[in-house]
Amino acid sequence: MVFLNGLMLPLEEAKISVLDRGFLLGDGVYEVIPAYGGRLFRLEQHLQRLQNSLDAIRIDNPYTNDEWTRILSELIAQGGNADQSVYLQVTRGVAAKRDHAFPHEVKPTVFAMSNPIPPLTDELLLQGIAAITLDDIRWQRCDIKAITLLANAMLRQQAHDEGAAEAILIKDGHAIEGAASNLFIVSNGTIITPPKSSHLLPGVTRDLVLELAAQHGLEYAERAIPEQELSQASEIWLTSSTKEILPVTTLNQQAVGDGKPGLVWHRMIDLYRQYKQQLRNGAE
Ligand SMILES: Cc1ncc(COP(=O)(O)O)c(C=O)c1O
Repeated sequence: MVFLNGLMLPLEEAKISVLDRGFLLGDGVYEVIPAYGGRLFRLEQHLQRLQNSLDAIRIDNPYTNDEWTRILSELIAQGGNADQSVYLQVTRGVAAKRDHAFPHEVKPTVFAMSNPIPPLTDELLLQGIAAITLDDIRWQRCDIKAITLLANAMLRQQAHDEGAAEAILIKDGHAIEGAASNLFIVSNGTIITPPKSSHLLPGVTRDLVLELAAQHGLEYAERAIPEQELSQASEIWLTSSTKEILPVTTLNQQAVGDGKPGLVWHRMIDLYRQYKQQLRNGAE
């Protein structure tokens, strides 16, 4: 069952108008929220980011946080305690005619579904992933979690075409983030990630990694990463809600560090997993 405009429906019965502005113009925003052991992970932070995205594109939030919690909990209840991710999207809705300017008095279209999160295999975590650098061809408001993802899709596809799992995006000589992930490097023992700005998505996983670093006394900094520093980093990680913290062991066909997931990554993934386990065990 999926959620569409107030109803729980079988997927095949969930239909929207072809005049929906999400379909015609990509006029909408979304969230992806993981759930572990039947509990939504960092829900408050995801709902705050949803609110920020909606505010940025001037759509009134169709639901209160309590209502969202009820809807999303109902969706994940279908999957029991399995690891899942909820996808939700809010578009501006259906207007009488196709026109770029925002129409008056449209009702947002709300869609949400839950899917199992495929477990990250040991092989992947032991070997890490390959990434390539590409020019950041996206727009100036990457802080909005917009459904308009053509540039991201093209960049990810180019990475796949070149045998890599992710593209790390370069803007004005600096490494910004991945096509669907945030970027961390380890340089001289310090964990570094670019500061929040309109050039990147304020990732919920990113913030958690920084929180864990602070709590456990690991050196970290939020500052710009010149492309050259990226290529010389001893470790590179990419973070996202469904992929957690992936070690990049090959960048542009060159080994990162000794070509294996690094020591600092091992420490951080342990802290991250402990944090998840506490949530599974019932901690808030
Ligand atoms: C462009 C981009 N950056 C970063 C992220 C990571 O964000 P989060 O950790 O909140 O999933 C995503 C997630 O899909 C993304 O699409």
